[in-house]
Amino acid sequence: MTDKPELDEHSGVYTTGHEWDGIKELNTPLPKWWLYINYISIVWAIIYCIFMPSWPGLPGMGYFKGLRNHSERANVAVALDKLQAARAANAQSLTSISLDQVENDPDLLTFAMAAGRSAFGDNCATCHGSNGIGSVGYPALNDDVWLWGGNLDEIKQTITYGIRSGHDEARFSQMPAFGRDELLSGSEISDLTELVLAMGGSDHDQSAAARATTNFEEQCSICHAEDGTGDRYQGAPNLIDSEWLFGGSRSEITETIANSRFGIMPNWEQRLQPWTIDSLAVYVHSLGGGE
Ligand code: HEC
Ligand code: HEC
Repeated sequence: MTDKPELDEHSGVYTTGHEWDGIKELNTPLPKWWLYINYISIVWAIIYCIFMPSWPGLPGMGYFKGLRNHSERANVAVALDKLQAARAANAQSLTSISLDQVENDPDLLTFAMAAGRSAFGDNCATCHGSNGIGSVGYPALNDDVWLWGGNLDEIKQTITYGIRSGHDEARFSQMPAFGRDELLSGSEISDLTELVLAMGGSDHDQSAAARATTNFEEQCSICHAEDGTGDRYQGAPNLIDSEWLFGGSRSEITETIANSRFGIMPNWEQRLQPWTIDSLAVYVHSLGGGE
């Protein structure tokens, strides 16, 4: 240790005078601007800690709430209340007029479409695909093909009560399992498969299809209609439109006839607000196939 500053000959910088084992410390202080910013930050932090929520777990008072008593949670609650209030008026008008009228009211329509689109993403897209494109067993909602009906009221009824959902008001029907319950023999079912392929315009065995016509009239036409166009009252699909809910290959059709299908659409009456269901009906109706 020496008292007088010493000039280091290698770097041209004065030393602090500290020395350990022959190693000397150069005197290179922090830039002034840096120091001032540092001091200002410390002052700012102290002021911030006094006014804003800062210290966790103080005995007897939980966290220190700060002199401003600021709370993000409270802000969110206020914002949500405002949103609810803003929606309430629209929700109220939506449920008080018919859905046809909603489609003619530009403001309400915009509101219903936005609400319907977001509710669809949250609740329906898992099964029906985004924008209602559908997949095997889950009908597309953006085309003209409807199992149960595609006008606003029919769509609303489907959403409210579901299909085979167990709700008392649910849409219900059940195609017999012709193979599993031994109503028809294996060869009758394979002949019927050829007939269904023929109806859908696919390659098929003509003589097998011809053999199946009597069985179709006796066993199938009561639901699918004699010409195969289906029956919306029973949710029985059209078999001649070459649109398949459960697949139109030979093996898929045989599977449907032998074991039948039992597509379940949940009911939403208890889970969604009436105005949300109305919005969903308007949204689904707008997807491309609304009647
Ligand atoms: C768990 C899967 C599932 C969810 C979730 C679901 N659906 Fe469905 N939905 C189905 C199935 C399966 C069918 C067809 C039932 C059948 O075979 O008849 C269906 C049928 C429908 C139909 C009738 C289509 C027609 O052709 O008549 C509409 C409309 C519909 N769903 C709308 C919705 C809406 C809106 C939501 C969201 C609130 C929703 N679905 C949620 C499975 C689902
Ligand atoms: C009691 C009414 C009923 C009878 C009888 C009936 N079906 Fe069905 N069929 C349905 C219903 C309902 C569906 C749709 C099932 C679902 O959505 O879960 C269906 C679906 C089908 C499908 C699937 C269509 C697709 O788009 O994937 C085929 C194929 C079919 N039936 C053929 C037949 C044949 C062949 C017979 C006669 C041997 C028959 N059905 C008898 C009600 C019936």
